[in-house]
Amino acid sequence: MTHGPHRIECDVIGGWACLQEGCGFVEVAARRAIRKKACTCFIAAGIRRCRTISSHDAASAPAAGALVTPAKSARGRGAVKRLACFACRSFGAARAEMKAVVVHEFGPPESIRVEEFAPPRPGENEVLIDVHAAGVNFPDLLVMGGKYQILPRSPFVPGKECAGVVAAVGRAVTTCKPGDRVLAWMEHGAFAEQAVCVQDNCFVLPEPMSFEEGASFGLVYQTAHFALVERADLRAGEIVLVTGASGGVGLAAVQIAKALGATVAAAVSTPQKAEIAWRNGADHVIDVAVPNLRDGLREQLRKATDGRGADVVIEQVGGDVFDASLRALAWSGRLVVVGFAGGRIPEVKANYLLVKNIAVLGLQISDYRDRHPRKMRRVMAELFDWYDRGSITPLVSEVYPLSEFAAAFAAIASRRAVGKLALRVR
Ligand SMILES: NC(=O)c1ccc[n+]([C@@H]2O[C@H](COP(=O)([O-])OP(=O)(O)OC[C@H]3O[C@@H](n4cnc5c(N)ncnc54)[C@H](OP(=O)(O)O)[C@@H]3O)[C@@H](O)[C@H]2O)c1
Repeated sequence: MTHGPHRIECDVIGGWACLQEGCGFVEVAARRAIRKKACTCFIAAGIRRCRTISSHDAASAPAAGALVTPAKSARGRGAVKRLACFACRSFGAARAEMKAVVVHEFGPPESIRVEEFAPPRPGENEVLIDVHAAGVNFPDLLVMGGKYQILPRSPFVPGKECAGVVAAVGRAVTTCKPGDRVLAWMEHGAFAEQAVCVQDNCFVLPEPMSFEEGASFGLVYQTAHFALVERADLRAGEIVLVTGASGGVGLAAVQIAKALGATVAAAVSTPQKAEIAWRNGADHVIDVAVPNLRDGLREQLRKATDGRGADVVIEQVGGDVFDASLRALAWSGRLVVVGFAGGRIPEVKANYLLVKNIAVLGLQISDYRDRHPRKMRRVMAELFDWYDRGSITPLVSEVYPLSEFAAAFAAIASRRAVGKLALRVR
């Protein structure tokens, strides 16, 4: 038997312990001597609860997804043949290792490797997923580089969203069951063969949605929806300027703003990105590569909108693009700060807000994820409905094998990527 803070493997004759952290369910052999030995072992490993039953047969472990109940063996009274835990429904016969992107030290993706790592265990309110695809997001770059607002302790597996098949669920889980196709999002852990998330952040996929689409859906569409609706209070008929409009959040914002009845101006840096924006519903395209962006952005937008400017700006580039976008706001306009992909975090003079009757708002989607999970589920239901109707469609422009995750992030960092990139995990 070996045990550590996250994993307990037991081959003590006639007993087993649930490997699920926090479950604590233990079965040990009926014979007194064995029970005593096994219990001592388990208690040393931090497991207190213990039930007395008879021996198991490791070869009879159920397939992932089987519901677990104690069963009498044909070989003897009270014998239990199932290895999976009927207290939390996770499986004792778990794999010892999985392939994952593992960060030991913060740094660029080229310095980080795919290696063997201990698989996660679902808690009672959590879902274990066999990951098929994982979404590539700009914030992952910040996490791996140690520049994000929430940083896990090393070693850790990065990755904020994935799609796959539910392998096991904790005993309090009601939103999905083993075998369901789902998308999930999490603070980190998605770039691996298995990932865990709390049930509130796990969503059963619409029938036609592929794993690559599912892995590219949750984070950017939720971010764009909360920016437009919750923060900016967008009304049908208003004019929305989206910066970084051909990227993940950008394209989602273009599509959602259109679905909500807005007129959309998409700010992009190349003709190829302009083409993507047109194809995804933009009414106007604004060139951010013009020499005098400070005035140039406002001039282009005013020309396109009969002098009105933007009622709402969804801003994710920062720096000069932010400064120019603020100047392009219409009377009573709202600018939502989503990110700083360009690097420079801008500053705002308060008098400018007063003089123009405008507002600058912030959005951090993970706060909504953790504080308002029910609201997020309502929004996800609306997004799935729009997806089913064809009003929004994720553009997954490239899929990389997990082993080539660094190449995917090189495309993001160099601004070559359009829409979403995904990693194929299995
Ligand atoms: N607040 C939140 O909760 C939240 C959630 C998700 C993402 N974000 C942030 O939102 C931003 C966009 O994320 P994303 O996943 O959509 O990224 P993405 O797909 O890589 O898109 C970023 C866009 O920004 C533009 N850009 C300008 N300068 C850039 C640079 N130096 N490097 C890379 N891109 C640059 C690019 O368009 P052009 O070349 O046309 O300028 C690109 O299309 C990021 O800052 C991210 O951290 C925030």
